[in-house]
Amino acid sequence: MAGSLRLTLPLRLSAVLLLSCWSCGIAGAARPAPSDVGLGRGGNASFVGAWCAGTKYPALCNATLSPYAAAVGASLTRLAWAALNVTHDGARNSTKAMKRMAADGHLAPVAAEAARDCVSMLGDAVDLLGQSVEAMEEAAAEEEGQAPQQSRRMARFRVDSVLTWASAALTDGHMCMEGFKGQAAGGGGVRKAVRGRVVGLVHLSANALCIVNAMANQTPP
Ligand SMILES: *[C@@H]1O[C@H](CO)[C@@H](O)[C@H](O)[C@H]1NC(C)=O
Ligand SMILES: *[C@@H]1O[C@H](CO)[C@@H](O)[C@H](O)[C@H]1NC(C)=O
Ligand SMILES: *[C@@H]1O[C@H](CO)[C@@H](O)[C@H](O)[C@H]1NC(C)=O
Ligand SMILES: *[C@@H]1O[C@H](CO)[C@@H](O)[C@H](O)[C@H]1NC(C)=O
Repeated sequence: MAGSLRLTLPLRLSAVLLLSCWSCGIAGAARPAPSDVGLGRGGNASFVGAWCAGTKYPALCNATLSPYAAAVGASLTRLAWAALNVTHDGARNSTKAMKRMAADGHLAPVAAEAARDCVSMLGDAVDLLGQSVEAMEEAAAEEEGQAPQQSRRMARFRVDSVLTWASAALTDGHMCMEGFKGQAAGGGGVRKAVRGRVVGLVHLSANALCIVNAMANQTPP
């Protein structure tokens, strides 16, 4: 089963951060502070653009997050929240698409099983991203004084949990595509079709991870 191939969470987390968040961490650290670029609470697409520039897929990041510029304002917490919202939405879309594929009677048996594994893994990703979204909603409410401030330790635990969950979602997307590697799974055509349904989620997760990682770097240990 695909589950047995999955890495343990801490291992996944460090691998994923190295692979897809390294550049964001560096670029993120070099981002101008909101006050330096004349950003008000009202929002400014340049805040989104500036942070997106440091992600692995900047055009996708900007295209999906610019519509939230007003909701984000100049808050990295809200930007991370919006990024996780979009990724959660993407995971639901991928799950639905893979459910349709798994239900299609034309797949070879190996591919049909891989598609069912995908539905289960992507379903996990939806749940983990849902938890991440809730955690960021809490963090935003605290930042805005609408909820009592958690202790530093709890705030750190929360952002680390979100990193773990979002990286697990990224791994789930990768594992889903990996399941179609062999010829027995139907070859290039099927692989390409699966990639088309899942790669968006993988890219959105990588971007969200970068932004959450930047936020984690601003959260005291
Ligand atoms: C948005 O930010 C840019 C700089 O990045 C600044 O020139 C512009 O005036 C800002 N716009 C608003 C509406 O704050
Ligand atoms: C980001 O998207 C906005 C809105 O679509 C656009 O105006 C802006 O030029 C884009 N910025 C970058 C850096 O791509
Ligand atoms: C995230 O999604 C929720 C539910 O749709 C919405 O209320 C919230 O404003 C979104 N957050 C951001 C920062 O856009
Ligand atoms: C998910 O699907 C809906 C409906 O097709 C679409 O409007 C939305 O943009 C998709 N979201 C993502 C992140 O792919």
